[in-house]
Amino acid sequence: MTIDLAALPHDFLWGTATSAYQIEGAVTEDGRSPSIWDTFSHTPGKIDNGDDGDTACDHYHRWREDIELMRRLGTNAYRLSVAWPRVVPGGDGPVNPKGLDFYDALIDGLLEAGITPSVTLYHWDLPQVLQDRGGWSARDTAQHFASYAAVVAERLGDRVKHWTTLNEPLCSAWIGHLEGRMAPGLTDLAVAVRASYHLLLGHGLATQAVRAAVPGAEIGIVNNLASVEPATDRPEDVAAARRLDGHTNRWWLDPVHGRGFPSDMREVYGVELPEQPGDLETMAAPLDWLGLNYYFPSTVADDPTGPAPRVRTVRRLGVHRTGMDWEVEADGIERLLLRLTEDYGARKLYVTENGSAYPDVVRPDGTVDDPERVAYLEQHLAACASAVRKGVPLAGYFAWSLLDNFEWAYGYDKRFGLVHVDYRTQRRTVKGSGHRYAEIIRAHGGRGRSAA
Ligand code: FCB
Repeated sequence: MTIDLAALPHDFLWGTATSAYQIEGAVTEDGRSPSIWDTFSHTPGKIDNGDDGDTACDHYHRWREDIELMRRLGTNAYRLSVAWPRVVPGGDGPVNPKGLDFYDALIDGLLEAGITPSVTLYHWDLPQVLQDRGGWSARDTAQHFASYAAVVAERLGDRVKHWTTLNEPLCSAWIGHLEGRMAPGLTDLAVAVRASYHLLLGHGLATQAVRAAVPGAEIGIVNNLASVEPATDRPEDVAAARRLDGHTNRWWLDPVHGRGFPSDMREVYGVELPEQPGDLETMAAPLDWLGLNYYFPSTVADDPTGPAPRVRTVRRLGVHRTGMDWEVEADGIERLLLRLTEDYGARKLYVTENGSAYPDVVRPDGTVDDPERVAYLEQHLAACASAVRKGVPLAGYFAWSLLDNFEWAYGYDKRFGLVHVDYRTQRRTVKGSGHRYAEIIRAHGGRGRSAA
């Protein structure tokens, strides 16, 4: 399939993305404290096959090799996350120099390889000690997050200009506190709503902290937004689609854009927000860009007796699905990019994650053939290029993921990497999709290398 690469800006960032807990391993090394994901993954029954992130891709020790892989792919950017429990093991208070040293060396290695680092401050690994004090349902956590953000920004900010406060706060709040499928594994709407509020407050405070510490910082937030359609045109299903849009999209975007929390959703939740004067202004701290994570579209119907937001997902027949059982629909990414541009006036956008899992195997000749992932990648890049033709200010694309890794509650069975990882030997093998990505980047001209 052809991708209209000429549509993409010459300084486009071609990246891959990972997150700390999913790849680093070394969970007890050099002063790291447990995170809520260590606790959750060691709780029987929470993770498929009883997997955990104790070793993961052993990236903590193999990061040089992993940078070499990025170089082979020809990427000019890399989105990584910093583990809060490595840097401030107590959640707040003393800084662990060894934790910072790890990221310091990693950043230098990336820059030496001509790869622009994009640093996410929170990809779900809250220090467990803070969870013991209420986690995101406690207001103090937002403040502690900002203090930790300042520590990281002060140390890395001379070399890192590209910053993300939160990755997918909706997963932290809704999946972690309402659905219970992710850490900390709670199922309480009131707690979830408080957590959502404090996550956004923490985002605003951290934005201010990074802005103060890093001259020229480009700061954004990363959301996994839903491209929602009602299953039928029955008014109940149309209203359900509107609720899912509120739950997944507007609840997270509106406050950041100075619009406050959507009133229809406040009614749906029926939970008092822990509001204090000035909070909404803090949440709306000016941003330089927005990040979109996109995987699959959502078709929904009314579910009057279900938990908030009272919707159920409807399976469409005849639609291709990935190994996650997620529908493949590249139009969804284009629709969301256009929505962010038209409804939220985005001036700069990144696709900060996009990818697919399939059950890959290394063949006897040592190669990994993954034509379905190649097709997914091409279709979504083509949709991105089409969005740019329609005026979307898309400045980069980060494939999820560089490596197969610990896919949260699904453990290691779900492989999203452009590079295959054999977890017994930690051997890395570039998949067909990795080679295809390299070819696309080359075809675009590889001119992005010097871009920040
Ligand atoms: C996103 C997460 C990322 C990864 C992908 C598949 O929701 O941000 O860590 O697990 O899904």
